Amino acid sequence: MSDNFIGKPFQLDSEVKNGVVAWRSPSNIALIKYWGKHGRQLPRNPSLSFSLSNAYTETQVQYSTREKTRDTVSLEFLFEGKKNDAFESRIQKFLNSISTNFPFLKNLDLKIESQNSFPHSSGIASSASSMSALALCLTDIEYELHGMERNEEFFHKASYVARLGSGSASRSVYKDFCVWGTTSLEDKYDDEYAVPLDKVHPVFEGLHDDILIVSAKEKSVSSSAGHDLMIDNPYAETRYAQAREKLIKLAGLIENGEIKVFGKIVEEEALSLHALMMCSDPSYVLMEPASLEIINKIRAFRDSTGTPIFFTLDAGPNVHVIYPERASQEARAFIVEELLQHCEDGRHIFDKMGSGPQKISYSNKI
Ligand code: PMV
Repeated sequence: MSDNFIGKPFQLDSEVKNGVVAWRSPSNIALIKYWGKHGRQLPRNPSLSFSLSNAYTETQVQYSTREKTRDTVSLEFLFEGKKNDAFESRIQKFLNSISTNFPFLKNLDLKIESQNSFPHSSGIASSASSMSALALCLTDIEYELHGMERNEEFFHKASYVARLGSGSASRSVYKDFCVWGTTSLEDKYDDEYAVPLDKVHPVFEGLHDDILIVSAKEKSVSSSAGHDLMIDNPYAETRYAQAREKLIKLAGLIENGEIKVFGKIVEEEALSLHALMMCSDPSYVLMEPASLEIINKIRAFRDSTGTPIFFTLDAGPNVHVIYPERASQEARAFIVEELLQHCEDGRHIFDKMGSGPQKISYSNKI
């Protein structure tokens, strides 16, 4: 319940309080997609994803005590070393909206610096990595100020706060696979925050996700507009039921190492997401001809060679190519020879399942 994450009151007369924290947090790729929300950023269906390794955001928050409490958060924000007014006002609004979760926010002057490991306009959504990195920093400051032990609850709170910034960000505070949203799989899964998926067969260790950038252009319909269009989508309820069912199936396949059926569900999910967009009112298409060329080539290559290689898509035209470590040689050769030619200027990010967010010291930043 959200009440669990109301922050402790902060005493201005308490000692300290200047400091700096920094976290590196990864992007993640959803295999069961979150599409449709309600209330304060709550999902209509549970989602399952894994965290990446090379696509990440690093965020550093410097804080110092103010002389007295004010009504709003005081913030200076730098993105990739430069002042960015648009981002600054968005983050300031977000910080004001979570001040009950972090009462200390109104007692501190904050300077936040953030940078991504991938180019800003690469067509790779940065909201999951950036909001999770910020949420981890803020939760860390709270735990530091109140001398609390960083246990499982620490990550639940960071995930909860990240979710308020961007739903998919809730899943970036863990390594490997995780689930966000209630499911009949187990009671521990929650709509308010993500939880790791524990039972993973070794065949999925180091699972690859090579991101093929078909277009780096800004999407014609944003994710938040897409979530809103689910409200009147005639297939919405069927979709939510389907996602719930598929998540349970996929979790079982991940536990048992059944990679072929796993891949089948992953692809069906990606195409269901895009089918929902095509069936919205107004309808829209985010895939490009090159996305379909890549999809067709992946299926043909798999059929002719038996290589376990699959695709998924986010809410955009770029294709994520998923394959296990044991197929990496033939999969990578195929991608280089056959697929990169469909990317915009050959752009791609070779990525894989990662070890989750990391607390960093200033000197280790990119
Ligand atoms: O977190 P948002 O609001 O940007 O929505 C993300 C939606 C998808 O990327 C399409 C699916 C998902 O679960 O990440």
